[in-house]
Amino acid sequence: MAKVNENYLRLPGSYLFSRIGKKVEEYKADHPRADIIRLGIGDVTQPIAPEIIRALHGAVDEMGQADTFRGYAPDLGYEFLRSVIAEKDYRDRGCSVTADEVFVSDGAKCDCGNIQEIFGLDNRIAVCDPVYPVYVDSNVMAGRTGEYDPRTGKYQDVIYMPCGRENGFVPDFPKEAPDLIYLCFPNNPTGAVIKKDQLQGWVDYANAHDAVILYDAAYEAYISEEDVPHSIYECQGARGCAIEFRSFSKTAGFTGLRLGFTVIPKELETDGVRLWPLWARRHGTKYNGAPYIIQRAGEAVYSEVGRRQVREQIAYYMENARIILQGLSEAGFDVSGGKNAPYIWLKTPGSMTSWEFFDYLLEQANVVGTPGSGFGPNGEGYFRLTAFGSRENTIEAMKRISELGA
Ligand code: MLT
Repeated sequence: MAKVNENYLRLPGSYLFSRIGKKVEEYKADHPRADIIRLGIGDVTQPIAPEIIRALHGAVDEMGQADTFRGYAPDLGYEFLRSVIAEKDYRDRGCSVTADEVFVSDGAKCDCGNIQEIFGLDNRIAVCDPVYPVYVDSNVMAGRTGEYDPRTGKYQDVIYMPCGRENGFVPDFPKEAPDLIYLCFPNNPTGAVIKKDQLQGWVDYANAHDAVILYDAAYEAYISEEDVPHSIYECQGARGCAIEFRSFSKTAGFTGLRLGFTVIPKELETDGVRLWPLWARRHGTKYNGAPYIIQRAGEAVYSEVGRRQVREQIAYYMENARIILQGLSEAGFDVSGGKNAPYIWLKTPGSMTSWEFFDYLLEQANVVGTPGSGFGPNGEGYFRLTAFGSRENTIEAMKRISELGA
């Protein structure tokens, strides 16, 4: 008889954003005339920038001609994209990353979920709490987390590193030393950032404890302040302990196109084994490369015109973030984030739980957000709003929430 992977039975019933989507659909079925504003999942709303569309059209035309048609892409990515990433995202920022250390993929979510496959099951993982659910869920699926304790909302073998106001939403070093440390900055869900010296502290910690940092920098394009690192490779010694994930989703509106990349330095090794060949082997076996057309679109993001256009989009979303921050503060909410990230993190009013506040906002204001407890036990009593809505919806949502008050 075929057996299932029983680790899956330890997972919550559905992925956080699927659960939210289902709740909203149920509400809509009962209230068909409700004008619902969705500021829940961090999905972009602005159309793809014209320069990127131009590149897409060009690549589509190439696929229709015998002499420019392409079949399977190289599984680690086309050289034209890998080299422009190494140059513009890293060399221009003083980080030494070479093109062949860049692995192109169809997005950071897949890479963040898949990377754990190259590590042994006896590794202990540490995550921030609250946390992007993919890091934990993918380790649950692999069988690395132990049982779920419904009383604490935690998996017994995972090290949860609380992030709250008291530590500026940047974790303290854990008491027990982890083997794999997931860090995401600018942070999803809190919108917090880590300063350069703090990140250097984590790199030093990882090197001292033979740990590997899995650094998710999907939101780096939203950084507006100085002294906030865009890449972990800005820190001394990071090439010896860190893997970095990047995404085109939020940087250039590719949530529907799908493109991302992972950087693994050639010399990075653990337990005497280099990680680069393991990830290359996995990629080669399980992945046939991101589509040529999409990689050409990715290349256009780095052109002068493309870069200007995507920066304008980011500025648009960050103006939304400013409107949300201001609107919520004026309405009396306790808010943070939203300055270097497209997420605003607020305390739920009174003693409302995150899900109670979700229902309250949905029913009273027809506004959808994300309950903080969906990101981990320490997210309870918090709520996340995204700046990725349209301007009109953002302003309208703030009007409705302000009328309700904190
Ligand atoms: C989020 O809302 O947290 C993100 O959109 C999820 C993702 O990027 O996968």
